[in-house]
This record gives sequence, C-alpha cells and structure tokens, in this order.
Amino acid sequence: MAGQKRSSSMTRLCPLALPAICVSVLVWLVDPTASYKPIIVIHGLFDSSANFKNLLAYINKSHPGTNVTVVDLFDSRQSLDPLWKQVQGFREAIYPIMQNAGSDGVHLLCYSQGGLICRGLLQTMPDHNVDTFISLSSPQLGQYGDTDYLRYLFPAYVKANLFRLCYTRYGQTYSICNFWNDPHHHDMYVNASDFLAPLNSDRSEPNATEWKKNFLRLRRLVLIGGPDDGVITPWQSSHFGFFDENETILEMKAQMVYQKDTFGLQTLDYHGAVTTYCVPGVLHTQWHSNETVFKDYMEKWLT
Ligand SMILES: *[C@@H]1O[C@H](CO)[C@@H](O)[C@H](O)[C@H]1NC(C)=O
Ligand SMILES: *[C@@H]1O[C@H](CO)[C@@H](O)[C@H](O)[C@H]1NC(C)=O
Ligand SMILES: *[C@@H]1O[C@H](CO)[C@@H](O)[C@H](O)[C@H]1NC(C)=O
Ligand SMILES: *[C@@H]1O[C@H](CO)[C@@H](O)[C@H](O)[C@H]1NC(C)=O
Ligand SMILES: *[C@@H]1O[C@H](CO)[C@@H](O)[C@H](O)[C@H]1NC(C)=O
Ligand SMILES: *[C@@H]1O[C@H](CO)[C@@H](O)[C@H](O)[C@H]1NC(C)=O
Repeated sequence: MAGQKRSSSMTRLCPLALPAICVSVLVWLVDPTASYKPIIVIHGLFDSSANFKNLLAYINKSHPGTNVTVVDLFDSRQSLDPLWKQVQGFREAIYPIMQNAGSDGVHLLCYSQGGLICRGLLQTMPDHNVDTFISLSSPQLGQYGDTDYLRYLFPAYVKANLFRLCYTRYGQTYSICNFWNDPHHHDMYVNASDFLAPLNSDRSEPNATEWKKNFLRLRRLVLIGGPDDGVITPWQSSHFGFFDENETILEMKAQMVYQKDTFGLQTLDYHGAVTTYCVPGVLHTQWHSNETVFKDYMEKWLT
C-alpha cells in the first residue's frame, strides 16, 4: 500500500515536459490548396465513430478537404471482442483506403484501446503505407488498474485478482484481458496473453522479425498521454512506460521492448521518429474532444 501511494504521487508529475515545437512558420508556408493525406481513425473501448464529431470538426477547420474515415466497426460492446479479431476486421476496412492513397500514404489516429489495434495492424500489414501513427492515450504496454470499466465488466474482481480470470482461455476472449498486464503475475501474463505478449515478444513470437520490418515502414510515431487521464494505468503506458514488479514506473527506454528493440521502437527512436507528449489536465474521455490538445499536439503531424 505504501509503495502504491508513493508511486501514485510520483506519477502525477510529467517527466521533463517536452517543449512544444513551434511550427507556425511552417503552417504559413503550406499552400492552402495542397492536399492533406487521408486520416484513418480507430476508436477505443465502448465507444464508436459517433464520439469523434469534435475531432472531425477540428480537422475540417484546420486542414479543410482532408479525407477522414472514422472506421465504424466493433462499436460499443463489440469493442470487447478479442483484439486479433478486431485487427482482422479493421485491416479489411482500411486496406482499400491505403490503396487509394498510393505512395503518399495515410495517417493513423488511434484512441485508447484502438492504439493497440493499430499496433497490431502496423506489425502485421507487410504493405501498409502509414506515414504518421498518433497513439492517443493508448495503453501501449498494457493496463493494471481499477477503473469504472473493470467494475462494470467484472464486478467480482479487482486489479489484484483479475489475473485469475484474464489469464485463462475464457478470459482471453475479452479484449481488455488481451492487454491486461499484471506486474505481480508476469509469468502468467507471458503464458496466457494472446495479444500483447506476442506483439511485444514478451513471449517468443515466430513472426517477430517480419512484424518489426512491417512496423518500421512507419515514418513517425506520436505518443500522447498524461497524468490526469484517470483510466490508463499506469498513465505512462501511453508512453511505453510501465510498472516493474514493485509497481515502480520504468520509462520507455528502460523497457525490454525498447532495449531489445523487439518490434522497432528503439530503431524509430534512434531515427528521431518518436515524439512523446505529456499533457496534464485531460481526462481519458476528453482526449479527442479538446481543441487545445488537437492544436498543440496533433494538427502539425496531420499534413
Ligand atoms: C467543414 O467546414 C465547412 C466550412 O465551415 C462546412 O461547410 C462543412 O460542412 C464542414 N464539413 C464537415 C465534414 O464538417
Ligand atoms: C475518401 O476516401 C475514401 C476511401 O479511400 C474514398 O472512397 C472516398 O471517395 C474519399 N472521399 C473523397 C471526398 O475524396
Ligand atoms: C505456462 O503454460 C504451461 C503450459 O500450458 C504450463 O505448464 C505452465 O505451468 C504455465 N506457467 C505459468 C506460470 O502459468
Ligand atoms: C506468421 O507467420 C506465418 C508463417 O510465415 C504466416 O502463415 C502467418 O500468417 C503469420 N501471421 C501473422 C499474424 O503475421
Ligand atoms: C522489489 O522490491 C524487493 C523488496 O524490496 C527487492 O528485493 C527487489 O529487488 C525489487 N525489484 C526490483 C525490480 O527493483
Ligand atoms: C484541454 O487540454 C488542455 C491541455 O492541452 C488542458 O489543460 C485542459 O484542462 C483541457 N480541457 C479539458 C476540458 O479537458
């Protein structure tokens, strides 16, 4: 308990807030009639394309003419379907959009659980043409926390014992168990996780080399998250940080996936292609509906 308190007070602070790079000059130079790359938006748990009305309006206002598709699949309760099944469904839906875009490519903007689906897509599509992947408050290294979602779905469980359900065949039929990452039962996670463990090569994955090659077709990765999120736990998971066995946060560069470069994260970072934004003051459900967040952390990448 004491350990938890300490780590939660520590986690309220953003690490070295990165200075927002000023790109206003660039914006003036852009020909207003130039076309922007199409954007594909993938929603999160228990939401649907309807939740992105504000975001669509922001994009329309700042980059008029952008072709934005909010993929209307696995809405609401269906968002609990296993993540590989969702990856398959979204892949079929977005493939034609990628093909239409040709060599210019597309941008992928993925919210919450959707950010894990997008990583599944990026790692398993050998011919994707994603230019920029914006991961908007996504639990990229998993989730370990008591939330309203958890209380609603599995009222008989709390974070400390959910491993008993999640790390079973039955548990893995729920999307949230696919990325449940209990730091006190790491062996069981490695054994049982059908999605996050192979995606990260936490468990040996025969396709890992292929998947890394696919992921590295990406030109830029933008990670957005912050300490007041309230759902993603630890919130640093949105920046590829996570708890160690004592619930101390290890940041991205201390993670095995980074150090062993299991799917290309370190390579991207070495190329200067990873941008991380720590944004305080934003609740989990607000990330896509806050115009300041859009203006300061997304707009400049969506060209
Ligand atoms: C985009 O903005 C224009 C001008 O305000 C408006 O006429 C149009 O309906 C908007 N389109 C969408 C898709 O919101
Ligand atoms: C937007 O993109 C989709 C998928 O590529 C395409 O079918 C549609 O015609 C495009 N819409 C416009 C207005 O260009
Ligand atoms: C992992 O799975 C194997 C085979 O199903 C089993 O024998 C082993 O006990 C499991 N280990 C853990 C830590 O769950
Ligand atoms: C993994 O590799 C096998 C053998 O090359 C291939 O058949 C399979 O489709 C691959 N799976 C994924 C998800 O990439
Ligand atoms: C976790 O805490 C225990 C007890 O204080 C310590 O022995 C262990 O080395 C710690 N583990 C890590 C990864 O720091
Ligand atoms: C919007 O985002 C900013 C950070 O860019 C934050 O300070 C503010 O609290 C947010 N507002 C709401 C209503 O979430």
